[in-house]
Amino acid sequence: MSLKKAYEQYFKMGTSVSVFDMKSERAKEELVKHYSSMTAENEMKPMFLLDKETTLANPEKYNLQPAMKFDSAVKYLEFARENGIALRGHTLVWHNQTPIWFFKKGYQDNWDAPWADRETMLARMEWYIKSVLNFVQTEYPGVIYAWDVVNEAIEEKAEEGWRKRSPWYQTVGEDLVLQAFRFARKYAAPGVKLFYNDYNTFNPFKRKTILEYIVKPLMEEKLIDGIGMQTHLILKECDRDLVQYEETLKCFGATGLEIHSTELDIHNADPSEEGLNKLADVYRKLFSLYVKAKKEGTANITCVTFWGMKDDVSWLTGFRKERSYPLLFGDNWEEKEAYHTVLQVAEEASR
Ligand code: GLA
Repeated sequence: MSLKKAYEQYFKMGTSVSVFDMKSERAKEELVKHYSSMTAENEMKPMFLLDKETTLANPEKYNLQPAMKFDSAVKYLEFARENGIALRGHTLVWHNQTPIWFFKKGYQDNWDAPWADRETMLARMEWYIKSVLNFVQTEYPGVIYAWDVVNEAIEEKAEEGWRKRSPWYQTVGEDLVLQAFRFARKYAAPGVKLFYNDYNTFNPFKRKTILEYIVKPLMEEKLIDGIGMQTHLILKECDRDLVQYEETLKCFGATGLEIHSTELDIHNADPSEEGLNKLADVYRKLFSLYVKAKKEGTANITCVTFWGMKDDVSWLTGFRKERSYPLLFGDNWEEKEAYHTVLQVAEEASR
C-alpha cells in the first residue's frame, strides 16, 4: 500500500522535495511510490528564479523587468511531468527568500538603501509573476496545478494585522495581496488554482485576520481558489492546537474554497518508542480530522503535503535547535509507527 493510494478517494498526498532528493535514486523511488503532488522545498522561490548577476550588471535596463532564470525549477518540472506527479508552485510573493536588492531603488544590494517606489514595485511584481507563469505554462503546460501566490502576509501576532515588516508591505502597502492575486489571475492558465498560504492558522486571531483581510476581499473579486494551512505543528502543543486546528478547518472550509495542508510536520525530539507512539497518535488525530472534514463536507481538502520525506532531512532539526523526528519515515526510510497509523486511518474510514 502507498500513501497516495490509501488516500486517493479523499485528497492528493504530497511532499516537499529538496535538491538532494532530486539527486537520490531512493528518494525519487519513494516520491513516485507514495505521492501524487510535490512541492520544491526551495528551488522555485524568488531567490532562485531572479537572475541577480544579469539584473545587477545593468540595473537601469532591468529596473522594471528583472532578469529571470529557470534552471533550478526545470528539474522539478521535468520530473513531475515524466512521472505524472502534480506540482504545487511555491511561492510567488513572500518576504523571505526573496533577495533584498529586488525591493531597492536601483537594485542596490544593501539593507540600508532606499526602497523602490510603489509603482516600480508593482511593475516588478507583475513582471515576476508573469514571467514565472508564462515560463512554466509554455514549457510545461499542465504540470503546475496550484500556486501559493502569497505566503505569510499576516503578522505573527495576528492581532497586529498585516506583516508590516515585510519589504512587500514597506514598498507596495496594504493592497499587496490583492495586487499579487490580480496579476496571478491575469497570467495563470485556466484551471490553475491560486492559494494564499500561511502558518499557525490554528491561532484564532490569525484565522480571523486571514479571513477578514485576505480571503474576503479576494473572494469578492473571484481571485482565490484555496487556502493553504502550512501545518508545522509541535508535538507537545498538539493537545491544545489540534482543537483550534479543527475549528480553522471548519471556518476556512465554510468559505467553500479548496483547502490544502501545505507543509505538514510535527516537531518531536523524542525518538524513543514512547515518543514515536505519541507522534503516531497525533498523526492519527490529524488524518482523522482531514478525512472527517472531507467526508462530512465541512472542508474541501484536496491535498495534504508533508514538509520532507524522512526525518534526517527535515528543516526542523536546524530550526528548533534540537534533533527532530517529525515525519512518517526514519533516517533510513524505515516506516515509522506514524506511517502505519496514517495508512490505518484511511483503511478504517473506507470500511
Ligand atoms: C515556510 C515556507 C516554506 C519553508 C518552511 C521552512 O513555512 O513556506 O517554504 O521555507 O517555512 O522550511
